[in-house]
Amino acid sequence: MSTPAERAAELRAQLAYHSERYYRDDAPEIPDSDYDALVRELALLEKEHPELASEESPTSKIGVPVTGAFAPVSHGQLMLSLDNVFDENELTEWAQRTASSLGREDIAFSVEPKIDGLALSITYEKGRFVRAATRGDGRVGEDVSANVATMSSVPTAIATSLDRIEVRGEVFIAKADFDALNQRQAAAGEKLFANPRNTAAGSLRQKDPAMTAQRPLQFLAYQLVVLDEQADAPRRHRDVVSQLDKWGFLVAPSTQHVTGLEAMREATKWFDQHRHDLPYEVDGVVIKVDDLGDREKLGSTSRAPRWAIARKLPPEERTTTLISIEVSIGRTGRATPFAVLEPVLVAGSTVSLATLHNEDQVRLKDVRPGDTVIVRKAGDVIPEVVGHVPLKGQRRQPAWQFPSSCPECDGVLIRRDGESDTYCVNVACPAQARAQIQHFASRAAMDIEGLGEQRVTQLLSAGVIRDVADLYSLDVDTVAQLEGMGDLSASALIGAIRGSADQPLHRVLIGLGIRHVGPVAARAVAQRFRSASELLAASSDDLAAIDGVGPVIAASLVTFLEDPDNRFVLERLARAGVALVEPVIESSLEQTLIGKAVVVTGTLDGYSRDGAEAAVLERGGTSPGSVSKKTYCVVVGASPGANKVNKATELGIPIVPGERFAELLATGLVPE
Ligand code: IVH
Repeated sequence: MSTPAERAAELRAQLAYHSERYYRDDAPEIPDSDYDALVRELALLEKEHPELASEESPTSKIGVPVTGAFAPVSHGQLMLSLDNVFDENELTEWAQRTASSLGREDIAFSVEPKIDGLALSITYEKGRFVRAATRGDGRVGEDVSANVATMSSVPTAIATSLDRIEVRGEVFIAKADFDALNQRQAAAGEKLFANPRNTAAGSLRQKDPAMTAQRPLQFLAYQLVVLDEQADAPRRHRDVVSQLDKWGFLVAPSTQHVTGLEAMREATKWFDQHRHDLPYEVDGVVIKVDDLGDREKLGSTSRAPRWAIARKLPPEERTTTLISIEVSIGRTGRATPFAVLEPVLVAGSTVSLATLHNEDQVRLKDVRPGDTVIVRKAGDVIPEVVGHVPLKGQRRQPAWQFPSSCPECDGVLIRRDGESDTYCVNVACPAQARAQIQHFASRAAMDIEGLGEQRVTQLLSAGVIRDVADLYSLDVDTVAQLEGMGDLSASALIGAIRGSADQPLHRVLIGLGIRHVGPVAARAVAQRFRSASELLAASSDDLAAIDGVGPVIAASLVTFLEDPDNRFVLERLARAGVALVEPVIESSLEQTLIGKAVVVTGTLDGYSRDGAEAAVLERGGTSPGSVSKKTYCVVVGASPGANKVNKATELGIPIVPGERFAELLATGLVPE
C-alpha cells in the first residue's frame, strides 16, 4: 500500500505522461474515461489531504505548455477548461452552488453539446481574420493561422463594429466525414485513423497547410471574447450565439435555452437520448449561465469558470486485451473475422466479441492477439475494435493471417480480385445453412420460439432438415428422437413451427435474408403486392416505385426472385402450407392515408412508438423508419430525432406538429 503522498505523485506522473500523448502528440494511449478517472482520484486525494494540493497539480492546470513546433501566441484572455460532473447529483450540487452564489433560482442557462474536438481561438481585428491559436496551457497557445485559413467554416471577414475580438469554439471532424475519410484511406491501402477527435487535432497541427486542407475540418463557435470593452457587445450568451450565427459561424442548433434548475436538468436529458443523432461526436453536455453579468459575479478558478460545467456522458471507448482473432461464417458464406476480447463494460454493456469486418480492416488496424486494444460501442452500433495501443517495450505477436480454409467445413475460403470480403464457397457448408435457418426463425422474421442456434445445429447434423422449407415437414416423432428432446418439447417446437406458417408475407421476406431487404422494405413490398405470386410477377420498375424501396433494393429482389433455387424454396414453403400473403389490416376507419408515407419521430401524447405507427397503418398509410423524397409528411413529437427533422427540412417535406396528429389521421391532409 502506498501513502497518499506517494499515490498523488504516481497519479501526477501518469497524468503528465497521458496529457502529453493527448495534447502534444494527438495520440492518446488511454480512453478519455480512464484519464478522467485518474483526475478524479487525484482531486479526491487532494481534497482529503489539502497538504498535497499544489498549483502545479494537473487538477489545477489546463492542457500542456506548447513546444516549439508552432509560433507561440498569448491569448487576449485566459482560455479556460471546464470542470466535469459525472452524474445528476453532482450536476444538482453545481446548480445549487451557482444559485446560492447568485442569490436566486430562476437562472437562465444554455445547455449545449460538448463536442469532442479541440479548442481554437480566432482573433478578428476590425472584422478581419488575423490569427488562430490552439489552447496550449490556457495562457499561450500555438499559432495555427495558416492551417485554419484553409477551413471553409471559418469566415475571413465578419461585419462588426467591435474592434478586437476572439471567437472561440471547437475544431472537429463530423462523423460522416470521418467515415468517408477512412474509406478513402482503406481504398488507398493506408492506415486507418482511430477516431474523429485525434484526427482533427492531428490535422489542425500539420506543418504543411496543404495537408490540413485535405482533411474535412470544421469549426463550431461557442464563445466570444471582446478584448476592448465596448458598449454594443452582447450581454447574454444566447445573443452571443445568434451574433456568431449571423456572422456566418457554425453554431450548435441543438443548444437549448432554459430557465430554472429543473428545466436545465430536463434539457441535459435530451442529449442522453439524442447523442447519436448529432452529426459530430459529443462526450458530454455543457451547461452555462446565460447572463454575462452573472458570469462575472461567479468568476473562475485558475482552471475553469464557475459559471459553466460539463456533464460527461458515458464513455463509448474502453481498452482491453485481444485474446484471439476468429472467423465466423454468415448465411451468404461470408467469412468475417472477429476479436475475442477480455470482457469489458462499454457504453452500458459488456463486450467480449467485436467484429473486425474483413481481412483489410485487420491489417489496416494492425491488431494482433495479445495486444491492448481500444473497443468502441457507439449507441446501437455493434461493438468494434478501433485499433491497438502501442505499449513501450512490448513484444507483439506476428501479424494475424486470414485462414485459407473454412473453420466450419474445411472448404476453401476465397477472396475474389477487387473484393474486400472472403467467402466459403462450399454450398453444403453447414454454417451457412445454420445461419440462414436461424435468421428465418428469429424474432424479427418468422419468430419461431425454441429454434435457436443449438437446436438448428442439431436438426442439421441429424440430417432431418437442409433448408428453411424442410422445417415445415418435420414431425413430432422425428424431433422427439433427438438428444435432449422429449415428446413435450418436440410438440412445442413443431407447434411453434406450424404456427409460424400464418405469419404475414413481410416476415417471410425478412426471413429469406434477401440482400438489402430490411424490415421497412419487406413491409412496403408485401403491402404493395399482398402475395408471393403477385410479387414473383413484379418488374424491377414496379418495385422501385414503392416508398421505402430504391433501385438497389429492387435489383436485389429481382435477382433473388429470378434464381431457380430461391423459387424452389418459395414453392416448397407454399406447398408446406406457409401462407405467403400479407393480410389487409381490418379497419373500420376511413382510409384517409392510402398511398401516403407518414414518418413519425419523437413521442406523441397518448401514443406509444408502435401505437403511432399502427394508427397510420389503420388509415391505410405506411410508416417508414426514415425520411425520403417519397415521404408525405413528418410528424414531430417530443424529443424528435434531429436527423429526420433536418432531412425533412432539406427535402421540403411538410412537418406536422405532434398535437395535430389526430387531424392528419382524420383528414389525410397536412393541417394548415
Ligand atoms: S465552453 C471557459 N462549450 O471542452 C469556457 N467548451 O473540457 C470553456 N468544448 O476547452 C469552453 N464543446 O475545447 C465550451 N459547447 C462547448 C464545448 C466546449 C466542447 C471543449 C472545449 C473546452 C473543453 C473542456
